[in-house]
Amino acid sequence: MFEVVYYSMCGSTKRIAEAIAGELGVKAEDIKTKKEPTKDSFLFLGSGCYRGKPGRKMEEFIARNDFKGRSVALFGTSGSGKGDEVKAMEELLKPKGALIRGSFYCKGKAFLFFNRGHPSNEELANAREFAREMKKL
Ligand SMILES: Cc1cc2nc3c(=O)[nH]c(=O)nc-3n(C[C@H](O)[C@H](O)[C@H](O)COP(=O)(O)O)c2cc1C
Repeated sequence: MFEVVYYSMCGSTKRIAEAIAGELGVKAEDIKTKKEPTKDSFLFLGSGCYRGKPGRKMEEFIARNDFKGRSVALFGTSGSGKGDEVKAMEELLKPKGALIRGSFYCKGKAFLFFNRGHPSNEELANAREFAREMKKL
């Protein structure tokens, strides 16, 4: 069973989450309404990048839950598109026992003009492809 949980301040990561969830046949869930992952699910966790880090609610979700032996795939969006938010999530999850199966990141837009057009259709298609790859594991 798959779960897709995201933190998104401006909407870009939400769009990626919905593309991934659509591919997996589940509904993307906002981390604000999610206390804990379901037992034994393959968990997709995603966040935007805010001053080099994932959102605080994502950090709190990781801190308060146990990930021992759980398969986790990560995704994120940022202004640079470099995936700093994904790397930061990985650093938080590894000591908690998560098995990181893969990650996906791309550019996302912020405010009205910065990175307008991201995530692009191509980036959304790449996110769906990532979900299909993870499904095969
Ligand atoms: C408060 C704030 C801080 C940000 N800090 C960074 C940053 O440190 N590095 C970066 O590459 N992008 C940064 N960005 C750009 C966002 O990471 C990017 O727009 C991302 O797609 C936002 O995701 P969201 O739409 O899901 O909230 C920042 C944006 C905001 C609003």
